Amino acid sequence: PGAHTADLVVFGGTGDLSMRKLIPALYHSDRDGRLSHESRVIAMSRGGLTDADFRGKVDAEVRDQVPVDDQAGWERFLGRLHHVSVDVGRDAGRDAGRDAGGADRAGWGALTRLLAGHGQRDRVFYLASPPRTFGPFCRELDEAGLVTPRSRVVLEKPLGHDLPSAQRINDEVGAIFDEHQIFRIDHYLGKETVQNLLVLRFANAFLEPIWNSLWIDHVQITAAETVGTPGRRGYYDHAGALRDMVQNHLLQLLTLTAMEPPARSDREAVRDEKVKVLQALRPITGTEADRFTVRGQYVGADGMPGYLDEPASTPPTEASRRVETFTAIRAEVKNWRWAGVPFYLRTGKRMPYRRSEIVVQFKDVPHSIYPGGAPNRLVLRLQPEEGIQLHIMAKEPGAGEVRLKPVPLSLSFGETFTTRVPEAYERLLTDVLAGNPTLFMRRDEVEAAWRWIDPILHAWESHTELPEPYNAGTTGPAGARELLGRSGRAWHEED
Ligand code: BG6
Repeated sequence: PGAHTADLVVFGGTGDLSMRKLIPALYHSDRDGRLSHESRVIAMSRGGLTDADFRGKVDAEVRDQVPVDDQAGWERFLGRLHHVSVDVGRDAGRDAGRDAGGADRAGWGALTRLLAGHGQRDRVFYLASPPRTFGPFCRELDEAGLVTPRSRVVLEKPLGHDLPSAQRINDEVGAIFDEHQIFRIDHYLGKETVQNLLVLRFANAFLEPIWNSLWIDHVQITAAETVGTPGRRGYYDHAGALRDMVQNHLLQLLTLTAMEPPARSDREAVRDEKVKVLQALRPITGTEADRFTVRGQYVGADGMPGYLDEPASTPPTEASRRVETFTAIRAEVKNWRWAGVPFYLRTGKRMPYRRSEIVVQFKDVPHSIYPGGAPNRLVLRLQPEEGIQLHIMAKEPGAGEVRLKPVPLSLSFGETFTTRVPEAYERLLTDVLAGNPTLFMRRDEVEAAWRWIDPILHAWESHTELPEPYNAGTTGPAGARELLGRSGRAWHEED
């Protein structure tokens, strides 16, 4: 595919996500020849920056994150960057949102002038701003006449904070853009191993016949992070691990693991199957939340601060004390293939390792003739290094009694493929430019995910107890181990 000519307008364009993920991804696209020379990136923020200021900021903050082997190429990239000031908080934050007044009309005017005369190009409006701004920004764009048939809108997570707010955002954005123009990002879907999961399942013959409750004992999906939440309390107090990681990233991994083989690899066929999995999730309501979910919050240990002691611009509140930085859930997919197979989900901040993986644990052999066997495990590692391992039992070399040892059949993407693995955001931006939404969440998918999450949120809100404390740098509260332990299972911890 040749280079695309597009104007990308990034709301929240000087924010953390933009500086750490989007701009580097755009630079890579540019460097690899996927963005044509006429393409432009227009950052919108309330920063009051000139184009030159913004280019200076990117030069100072992004240059070290990307391989700049060609100074002229880097400068050409900087030359495509523009900045327009609008007050995200003041105008779009208001419920009315419509009458963004005064100085900010100037911002919309400046954007209109920049885009004028380029109506034939692809236009991407990337909303990396708070979700309450999504509807108002779309209306502003529409009223300014900037939404063309070749426009697309990208929505960053979080998409609302519960089902009603997600529906409202979807309605507001859907009033201006058609569903095929709306790209709801879940950056986990851009990770290489996640796409490889589908290839592994549907381009190989040996797995699918055993990919069911007859052969699989349970599935574990873990996204463990070592980072805490310094400087993020304002967001995190009202998000928590369930909204921040489970509603999107972990449920996406679950759907790809559990979905039926689609008839084609196209956008609707894949997404149709994913929605069916979400709809088959057994609801966890009321007191069931006590049995099937665990909430934790890290406390200071080993020189690391607790959640409540993390640097923040405001002191902790009741919401801070109640928010979960760790959660583990026993989910169930109620359909023919998966009946009775638990899907354990777990995610947390300040855990001892950074690791995202899907572990499929098979059943034990029906009759063992050797002592010391262990069930097979298939481990799909998303990070830190991407790879697939199948743990099988082998005989330890030696004469005498047969001794078993689990050994991994191992595929490391880094060692097998020498081509650079694109970052998730790079891959997804390329798909937005190509108009391919397969790896983006469809409206019904996001809403089905919230429909399962909401009752858990409600159950937690009615709890008087605080989340279980766990020491920073450990694998979470005792409750997480009990969740598996009571059925004789254990989390996959070893490397
Ligand atoms: C984001 C969450 O969506 O994903 C963060 O908001 C989290 O809290 C991040 O740290 C994890 O992404 P990754 O790619 O580092 O696993």
